Amino acid sequence: MGMPRPLLLAVALMAATAVVVVDGQLFPTFYDATCPVLPSVVRRGMAQAVQKEARMAASILRLFFHDCFVNGCDASILLDDTANFTGEKNAGPNANSLRGYEVIDAIKAQVEASCKATVSCADIVALAARDAVSLLGGPSWTVQLGRRDGQTANQNAANTNLPPPDATLSDLLTRFSAKGLDARDLTALSGAHTVGWARCTTFRAHIYNDTAVDGAFAAQVRGKSCPSAGGDGNLAPLELRAPAAFDNGYFKDLVARRVLLRSDQELYGSGAGDGTTDALVRAYAANATLFAADFAAAMVRLGRLALTGKSGEVRINCRRVNS
Ligand code: HEM
Ligand SMILES: *[C@@H]1O[C@H](CO)[C@@H](O)[C@H](O)[C@H]1NC(C)=O
Ligand SMILES: *[C@@H]1O[C@H](CO)[C@@H](O)[C@H](O)[C@H]1NC(C)=O
Ligand SMILES: *[C@@H]1O[C@H](CO)[C@@H](O)[C@H](O)[C@H]1NC(C)=O
Repeated sequence: MGMPRPLLLAVALMAATAVVVVDGQLFPTFYDATCPVLPSVVRRGMAQAVQKEARMAASILRLFFHDCFVNGCDASILLDDTANFTGEKNAGPNANSLRGYEVIDAIKAQVEASCKATVSCADIVALAARDAVSLLGGPSWTVQLGRRDGQTANQNAANTNLPPPDATLSDLLTRFSAKGLDARDLTALSGAHTVGWARCTTFRAHIYNDTAVDGAFAAQVRGKSCPSAGGDGNLAPLELRAPAAFDNGYFKDLVARRVLLRSDQELYGSGAGDGTTDALVRAYAANATLFAADFAAAMVRLGRLALTGKSGEVRINCRRVNS
């Protein structure tokens, strides 16, 4: 009754989006006077973490996405659950999956040592995500700064706003559109899956049951990393050739139908939509420079979902609100 389901979903997602785009109040030189060492401190912390474990770059990139899609890029994702407070870390898409919290803690401690109570956790995550991509050989960009940290988190919004791995193309477009991001942003940002790893439980249905998957590829992943039952936590690389190189290999894999996630394959060859994402996938597969430029621009747009000015606070410990 009432609204058709896609519209209902759109309305629900809009309602959950309390954050407005406030581009004018973010600017790259925000901490130039108050914390000039900030970029080098974050860069050093990320370089150390990635040297220890290359996957951490992918994990921090995903952390930024999962922060920004829920209440905006306000570091709400970093708040720990307490006896009185339920955060986002244990929401379905994050539990036993999202990682990198202790890397942000370590960088925040270094930043606090030089610039006490000055730099938001949200801005540290935004800078760390930029450094993560460039440390893996991907593009770099100028990070807009001046985000404030949220004083609450929203587990329910984390469960409803973050896209699941069985999302259809129209579902993905609706969720991104609710954040002011279009088909080009969706396609470029999905290129993040050129790095990092996924658990068997997130891609089992695709490699066992879908027809839009290369048979030899599916058989290989089934045998190596994902039994039909059990092994839910087994990991496979989201991009087979070079899971620790930020290149355009993911888009070549989409054209060849050699990707893990059903939601990813929806961007190419699904026959849904008007072909915009299909054309972009082909363009990015053919032109790594184009992908790098579009990815950087889309990351800046994603980062614009923010609290600014006097909203929120600058958290001292990223895991809890200031008391
Ligand atoms: C478009 C919809 C998206 C869906 C449905 C999706 C879904 C997923 C899933 C299911 C995983 C594996 C999680 C697990 O094993 O528990 C994953 C991993 C990952 N996602 Fe996405 N994702 C999407 C968009 C994005 C975006 C926009 C970014 C960043 C800009 C991103 C970055 C990553 C990264 C880097 C990993 C690997 C993380 C690691 O190895 O720790 N994803 N994603
Ligand atoms: C939970 O709330 C009670 C009552 O307001 C307070 O005394 C206690 O310190 C809170 N616990 C945590 C872990 O925040
Ligand atoms: C594949 O589809 C069948 C029939 O719908 C279902 O019973 C089964 O659980 C599915 N398997 C996976 C791995 O999703
Ligand atoms: C690739 O994309 C870049 C950036 O848009 C463009 O300048 C270049 O001409 C493209 N290269 C080819 C071979 O189309």
